[in-house]
This record gives sequence, structure tokens and C-alpha cells, in this order.
Amino acid sequence: MPESALDVQARQQAATLPIDEFNPFSAEFVQCPYPFYARLVKEAPVWKAPIQGFYLITGYEEVMEACRHPEIFSSDYRHLFNRKPEIQAILAQGVPEVPTLGTGDPPMHKRYRALLAKAFTAPRVNAMGDTINATVNQLIDAFAGRGEVELHAEFGMPLTMQITADQLGVPREDFRKFREWSEARIVQFSFMVPLEAEIEATKKRLDFQKYFTQRFAEKQANPTNDIISVLATAKLEDDDGKEMRSLTLPEFLSIAEQLMTAGNLTTTHAICAGMVMLIENPRVREEITADPTKVKLFVEEMVRLSSPGPGYWRVTKEEVTLAGVTIPKGAPVHLRFAAGNRDTRVFKDPDRLDIHRENLSSQMAFSYGEHYCAGAVLAKKELELAFKALLARLPNVRFAPGKNDWSNIQSFAVHGLNHLYLEFDKA
Ligand code: HEM
Repeated sequence: MPESALDVQARQQAATLPIDEFNPFSAEFVQCPYPFYARLVKEAPVWKAPIQGFYLITGYEEVMEACRHPEIFSSDYRHLFNRKPEIQAILAQGVPEVPTLGTGDPPMHKRYRALLAKAFTAPRVNAMGDTINATVNQLIDAFAGRGEVELHAEFGMPLTMQITADQLGVPREDFRKFREWSEARIVQFSFMVPLEAEIEATKKRLDFQKYFTQRFAEKQANPTNDIISVLATAKLEDDDGKEMRSLTLPEFLSIAEQLMTAGNLTTTHAICAGMVMLIENPRVREEITADPTKVKLFVEEMVRLSSPGPGYWRVTKEEVTLAGVTIPKGAPVHLRFAAGNRDTRVFKDPDRLDIHRENLSSQMAFSYGEHYCAGAVLAKKELELAFKALLARLPNVRFAPGKNDWSNIQSFAVHGLNHLYLEFDKA
């Protein structure tokens, strides 16, 4: 992938600045984080960001250690966000935010996950295979005759949104709203947008709440075979496994919001990043085209390299020492899976795409432990079927000359290209 001017600047900064001058929320860092990660992992795998004051954990083992101890590294980081009065005033008009999955801690977090496990079983995901395949091929049909495509908007987004809609049990036609709401949701975590944009995004969260409040009531009254119905009718269990109560509306909205947003942007960015890797690594492309059973290996390796959900937040519940750094109680901590995924102590020649790595499955793109991605099985299935079809149906696929600016989304929360323009031989 050709380097943009911002990439070059990033490499220069990462090579020359003292690490105490790194700014993880800078345009350079989010555009091209890898040289910054390499220095941090080597020189300070647990590092206090001097400008923002949070602790950034980049070393593989150190991230794992934090994931193994949710009792110390709490996921209830809600108070770190939405502190601006303008944002609070808008949120006050909606349904209150409660911790469930991504912001939940044990023991309640385990109960929500158990509930979700009922809705998100491997058989349910496997049964989605035919639908995912059909959707992938319909989307490709729409551009196969053109010999060109912008993969993000014309393939990744509609694919992931429509599959999410099917899973949740809401009409596919509504997927444009989902996209808006998903993008609005991550604004909260991006740290890189002006207040006006944050206000607009927060208003959209209220639209999301209205829409899903209605769906919740509908599925409570008339449950069907989908995840909203499972959630609308399920009972939360206590520690003894006894039935306790139904989900409340705030709990349901919290879970639905995460199911809607957590998978769309990440999986879309993974699809685009994977295509870039396949174009740049023709040998791997030939190998997996000749033997599509190896696409699964490619998926495992490409999520390591792309890590589209590059990191998540924690807050320390007590003072803790990690890699020789003492983190005080109550400190904001960021676990950077994308950096751990390129830690040379674990992955040899980590920037290289190698589908035969012995430790392929050690990648941490979906996190580890209690908060391991609830949609990982679905995401891997979508990626596998998408790459199989794209490889088979876009002969001689290549970058469209002069169209790509190689800019990444300006966000600390999600990593990936804004657009990916491709050309291929017409069907
Ligand atoms: C390539 C695609 C994906 C990537 C890279 C990814 C990555 C992640 C990561 C790193 C976490 C961990 C957060 C933490 O440790 O705090 C996570 C959590 C989560 N993901 Fe994914 N994800 C992907 C796709 C999906 C999909 C398709 C769905 C749902 C349909 C989904 C739903 C969730 C949920 C609900 C959580 C919260 C789990 C919890 O905290 O218990 N993700 N994901």
C-alpha cells in the first residue's frame, strides 16, 4: 500500500521523538500506529500518556495480564466518557445507560454473557452461513459487471449491516440507519471529533433508543426466531442458576446497541484490510485461492495484522504494578490489542503476513478472557465467506489507480481505511 504523506510523517515522528512526546490521539498516530507501537512495546509496554494521563498498555503479556484480572482492571469505564454538560443534557432525555457487556464487571457481566450465549450459539451462526453467502454474492452481483468497486461502502458496510439486521430480527431496509447509529456510537470513544459532531452523534443515540424500544415491545408481544426475541423473553439468572427476572429496557438497549455497533465497522474494516493484504501478497492469494480451506488461516492472520478494534478501556480498582510501572487506583487504562498483536516477543517478524505461523491463534484481535468478543464466531464466518467469494469472483483484483488516498478513519477506537477503490477484470 503506498505511503500517504501522513504515514511518512508518522514514521518520522515515531523514529525521532522521545516517547514522552508521543500523542496517541494525534492524526499521525491513528493513521500509522505501527512504528509508535513498536517503540512503546520495546521501551515502555506500560506507558503513561503524558498529555492525556491514561496508561497505555501495548505489550502482549501485559495486555493478557490485565485481561486475566477483571477484578483489578474494571470495564466499567462509563464515567470516562460523556462528561461534557452538553452531552449529558442530551443523554438525560433518553433511557439511562447501564453497564452490561463491554462496560460490565463480574458477577453481573457473566450473567449477561450467559444470556447472550443462548442467543449467539455456534449452531445459530453456522445456520447463518447460507444467508451470509447469498448476501455476499448478491452484493458482488451488483458491481461484478462494472470491473470496479469501492469495497467499504458497496460491500463491507451493507454486508455487515444486513447480517446484523437478520441476527437481531429487524428489517434489512433499515440498515442505513444502523450505519449512522454505529458511526455515531463510536464518536463517543474516538476522542478526535469537535463538540458539535459529538452533540449530533449523541442525538442519534436517542433515535437508536426510540427505534429499539419499539422493537423490544414488539418482540416481547410476538417473539420470533431472532436475538431480540431471545433477549426480550429471556430471564436473567442469579449465581445459583435460578431464574430471576426479565431484562429491563435499559439493559436491553445497552446490549442491542453493542450488538449493533460492535461488529459492523470492525468487520467492514477487516474486509478492506484483508483485500489490501491479498493484493500486496500475491503468493498468499494464489495459495488460498487454490485451496480455499486455507482462507480460515488467512482470516486469523489478517485480523492479527489489522486489529480493527485496536483497543478497549479499563479502570483500575486498586493500585497495581505491571511491567515495573505502578498504576494507581482509579486510573484510566487502555489495552491496545493491535500493539500486542505485533509484539516481537510473541510474533516473529510481526509485520509480515504469514498464514503458516505456529501461533496464529494466539492473536488478540478479539481480546481475551471475560470480555472476549461476543461476535467473534460470526465475524470470522463473515470474513471467511466474504474472502472466498471476493477471490473467486474478482479476477485480477488490484488497486484502482489514482483513486485511493489511503486515509484511515480518524479515531482512536476503530482502525481502518475510509475507502478502498478496486479494479478487476469484468465478469
Ligand atoms: C473483525 C471483527 C471484530 C473485531 C476485531 C472485534 C473485536 C472485539 C474486541 C477486541 C472486543 C473486546 C473488548 C474488551 O476486551 O473490552 C470485543 C467485544 C465485543 N464484541 Fe467484537 N469484534 C468484532 C466483531 C464483532 C461482531 C460481528 C459482533 C456482534 C455481532 C461483536 C460483538 C461484540 C460484543 C457484544 C463485545 C462485548 C463483549 C464483552 O465485553 O463481554 N463483535 N470485540
